[in-house]
Amino acid sequence: MQLQEIVEITILPGITRDGKPEGFDRIVISPGDTLSIVGPTGSGKSAFISDIEMFAHHDTVTKRTILVNGTYPPEHFIRNPAQKPVALITQNTKCLSDLTVQEFLGMHVRSRKMDETGVINRTIILANEFTGEKITASARMTSLSGGQTRSLMIADAILISDAPIVLLDEVENAGIFKEKVISCLKNHRKSLIFVTHDPLISLLSGRRIVMKNGGVDRILEPGDEEREAIAWVTRTDETLCQMREMIRAGELIRSVSCG
Ligand SMILES: Nc1ncnc2c1ncn2[C@@H]1O[C@H](COP(=O)(O)OP(=O)(O)OP(=O)(O)O)[C@@H](O)[C@H]1O
Ligand SMILES: [Mg+2]
Repeated sequence: MQLQEIVEITILPGITRDGKPEGFDRIVISPGDTLSIVGPTGSGKSAFISDIEMFAHHDTVTKRTILVNGTYPPEHFIRNPAQKPVALITQNTKCLSDLTVQEFLGMHVRSRKMDETGVINRTIILANEFTGEKITASARMTSLSGGQTRSLMIADAILISDAPIVLLDEVENAGIFKEKVISCLKNHRKSLIFVTHDPLISLLSGRRIVMKNGGVDRILEPGDEEREAIAWVTRTDETLCQMREMIRAGELIRSVSCG
């Protein structure tokens, strides 16, 4: 099975923290789908995406099973990092390598046996679209900020890992331009699964998985019903982003215009 052949991921139900069966038949995720995982602290959001990341096979606390194209994926999918179709980006994503950005990406490109021409530069340029703090090729990986590291990992997931499934665990407060990240990932036909407390990301997702007590409690598919809210949150979020940038730049905010 090659990465390109991935058509869909299926999540089969497990159990809640009380040992009760989860109330869904299956969740099928196709390329280009966006889902957000929402719910209170400790409700099992990270455990849910961790199951996907490691292709759980009834062997995690939640007892869920993940299928790829309807069957349990072969071993090399799970064990070989160069084959792994899933990229997980968390708030704690930090790189301990002492290499420069150029060397780090170069190493990754070679490990994937890709043609190096241009891809390193393209990755850095893309990462810089996601963050206000510019990343240079000669910067040390260890000197990058949290926002820069996550931007680089997302750009890497798009252009180098080329993982068809990208899992993002609460990256919204991490100094990245989230709308740009979402639209870019969508354009690349990635399946996106966000753990999020952010209204805009939740509303922009096609489905919302609501977690409670370690299990999936509800699956919402709002479609057009939330159109008004999306328009409002998008405008408000733009205003907040501008304010955030102004505050960061040390400016005073003397007037507010929000639609
Ligand atoms: N179905 C389950 N059965 C047993 N334990 C579970 C289950 N789901 C999650 N847990 C455990 O509950 C704890 C909290 O879950 P998790 O970290 O996924 O919550 P979270 O929703 O991501 O919380 P936060 O919002 O604080 O990040 C973890 O130790 C996890 O392993
Ligand atoms: Mg969590």
